[in-house]
Amino acid sequence: MQITCIVGARPQFIKLSPFLKAAEAANHDVRIIHTGQHYDDEMSDAFFRDLEIKSPDLNLNIGSNSQAVQTAQMLEGIEIDLLKNKPDWVVVFGDTNSTLAGSLAAAKINIPTAHIEAGLRSFNREMPEEINRIVTDHLSDLLFVPSDEGMINLEKEGLADKSIRTGDLMADILETFRTKIKENILDKFGVKKGTYCLLTLHRPASVDDYDMLCWMIDQVSQTDKTILFPAHPRTRNAIKNNNIKIPNSIKLIPPLGYLEFQTLQAKAFAILTDSGGVQKEAYLWKVPCFTLRTETEWTETIDSGWNTIVFPGKGNLKKAIEDWEKPNAHSNLYGDGKASEAMVNELYRKSNP
Ligand code: UD1
Ligand code: UDP
Repeated sequence: MQITCIVGARPQFIKLSPFLKAAEAANHDVRIIHTGQHYDDEMSDAFFRDLEIKSPDLNLNIGSNSQAVQTAQMLEGIEIDLLKNKPDWVVVFGDTNSTLAGSLAAAKINIPTAHIEAGLRSFNREMPEEINRIVTDHLSDLLFVPSDEGMINLEKEGLADKSIRTGDLMADILETFRTKIKENILDKFGVKKGTYCLLTLHRPASVDDYDMLCWMIDQVSQTDKTILFPAHPRTRNAIKNNNIKIPNSIKLIPPLGYLEFQTLQAKAFAILTDSGGVQKEAYLWKVPCFTLRTETEWTETIDSGWNTIVFPGKGNLKKAIEDWEKPNAHSNLYGDGKASEAMVNELYRKSNP
């Protein structure tokens, strides 16, 4: 079976890794198109190296641009490649502009498409990702769904027939790294287990508005912990361009590789974030997460008590951390670490009915 995987942004390289391993183990032929949406070494190549992903067969080098221009340029490049190589399946991951461009290009030339991480909804159409998710789910032929909530959302949109609950690729890869987490990795960052918070911010709603970014920094600095802050380039640029002063308790560092970041998550006192993937990983590491957003797609992490929404501009992060009580239970929300095999098997089964 010939599969073309379309990726472009950091979390997609991470999700690609276990999928690629499972597909290659089953002797399928995988072609990787990298759109070039993320291009800094630490946002892109570092993941191909550390996670031992083969180099992309094609890099479109699209880079940063407005929503429409970036997506349109991707569409053009992807279509040319799909017409030439005619795979049995196109596989897209998550909810970025690379996901949308991949599913739209494939649908228009009738190449079957599978969407990994389908069914998530924030019900907030101001997020570009929400538009990408909805369109991709409706265009795709097969939907791999990580959570029960995702299945419910897809059923409501009339998409249950093409949806299958497989678990989550990020749980697959995290399981393979559990034994590689070593406490001495923390020495490099000058912190000790359980004494610091790990912060990530990259959503436009958090960092593009000056007042909101200042609010975030102020809230975080009011906690009495050291804050490690590996800043996404969007955020780093916003801090620099606005001359925002970062208090001493916040250690601003470059984006990290997968192993270092997982180690910092696993050993943190708490995780503060607006990332989707990081909320899920915090749950998998059983570390309390405080999500600086108006809502989340990963509602089961909230229901379980391991994740707390801190409403931007209104909430009180320090109080939320103080009030948090460790839940007694921690269930297996995202599968048994074997989602990738289930996905590859299902693609093969559908191609060979
Ligand atoms: C994108 C995705 C988001 C995902 C995130 C993962 C969309 C609409 N958004 O957001 O869903 O959560 O990736 O990290 O697809 N930049 C660099 N170097 C890079 C990449 C980006 O400097 O390698 C800077 C550029 O100034 C760019 C900005 O970051 O304009 C934003 O990058 P972009 O890919 O447009 O969106 P993200 O915020 O990364
Ligand atoms: N991540 C990483 N290094 C970092 C920050 C994040 O390896 O410095 C990983 C993190 O563990 C998770 C993924 O990147 O697997 C999340 O990506 P991001 O927050 O950029 O995007 P989102 O998940 O919100 O789409």
